[in-house]
Amino acid sequence: MAGTTPNLYSFPDVDALAKQLRKYVIHCQNAAINRHDSFRVAVSGGSLPNTLAKALLAPSNGTPEDTVQFPKWDVFFADERAVPLDHPDSNYKLLKDELLDKIPADQGKPKVHTIDPNHANDDDPQELADLYQEELMRSFAAKDSVKLPVFDLIMLGCGPDGHTCSLFPDHELLRENASWVAAVSDSPKPPPKRITLTLPVVTHALNISFVATGSGKKDVLKRIFDSEEGRHLPSGLVNVGGGDKVSWFTDRPAVDGVSYPRRGSL
Ligand code: 6PG
Repeated sequence: MAGTTPNLYSFPDVDALAKQLRKYVIHCQNAAINRHDSFRVAVSGGSLPNTLAKALLAPSNGTPEDTVQFPKWDVFFADERAVPLDHPDSNYKLLKDELLDKIPADQGKPKVHTIDPNHANDDDPQELADLYQEELMRSFAAKDSVKLPVFDLIMLGCGPDGHTCSLFPDHELLRENASWVAAVSDSPKPPPKRITLTLPVVTHALNISFVATGSGKKDVLKRIFDSEEGRHLPSGLVNVGGGDKVSWFTDRPAVDGVSYPRRGSL
C-alpha cells in the first residue's frame, strides 16, 4: 500500500468484500496489539455494523492472521446519535444487535465505550460531546498532553451526499480543529442531535476505512474520486487528509462509472 493517494478496492459482492475487510481489520488489529497490546477502533453506524459482522463473525482458520482478538478491542463510536442506548436510532444498539451480541462467548467481548446515557436527552448535545471527549482522554491520554488521539483504525461509511461520521457537506464543523469530539444539533440526516469525531481526529488515525456498497453510492463516489469539487465533500476531505492511510471497500455497483484506479488486492 504505497503512495499518498487513497486505496480503492472493489469486490464482486458484499460477501467477497467482507472477506477482504476481515483480512484488513485483523492486520490492523495485530499491528496494534504488537505496538501497545490493545486495538483502539472507532466505528460508524449505517450499513457498516452489518458488513462488519459478516466479516468478523466468520469462522477462523486458526492462524494469527485470521483470529479476531475481541478482548483486546477498545471500541469507540466515530459518531453517535443523542438518544438512549436502547433507542432504535442508537449506533450502539445497532452495533450490539448486529455484532456484539452475536460474538460467541468463548471469544470474549470487546470493551465498548458508549456515550453517557444520562445526557442522551439533553436539549443541547454539547455536554454529551464533552463527556465523550473525556472518555477518549481516559484511553488516549489527556488532551493537553497529546494533541490528537491516535486510533489504530477508524471505520466509516459515506452518505449519498458525501457525509461521513456526522460531518456534513458545507457544515462549519468541517473547520473544527480544537475539539476531538463535536456536537451536532442540525444534522440533515435524522435524528438531528448527534456527536461526532472531528476531521483532524479522523485523519490522524493510523488506518481509515470506508465501506460503501450498492448503486446508490456510485454518483457520490464518482464526485469524490473523479472531480475537484468532490475533494471538498467530508469523505473527500478524509481522502485528502488521510492519503494512503485510507482504504475504500466497495462493491462493483458502488464504483460503476468511477475512473479512479482500483487496487487489485490488499
Ligand atoms: C450515522 C452514520 C453515518 C453513516 C453514513 C453511511 O450514524 O448516521 O455513522 O455517517 O455511516 O450515513 O451510511 P450507509 O452505510 O448506511 O450508507
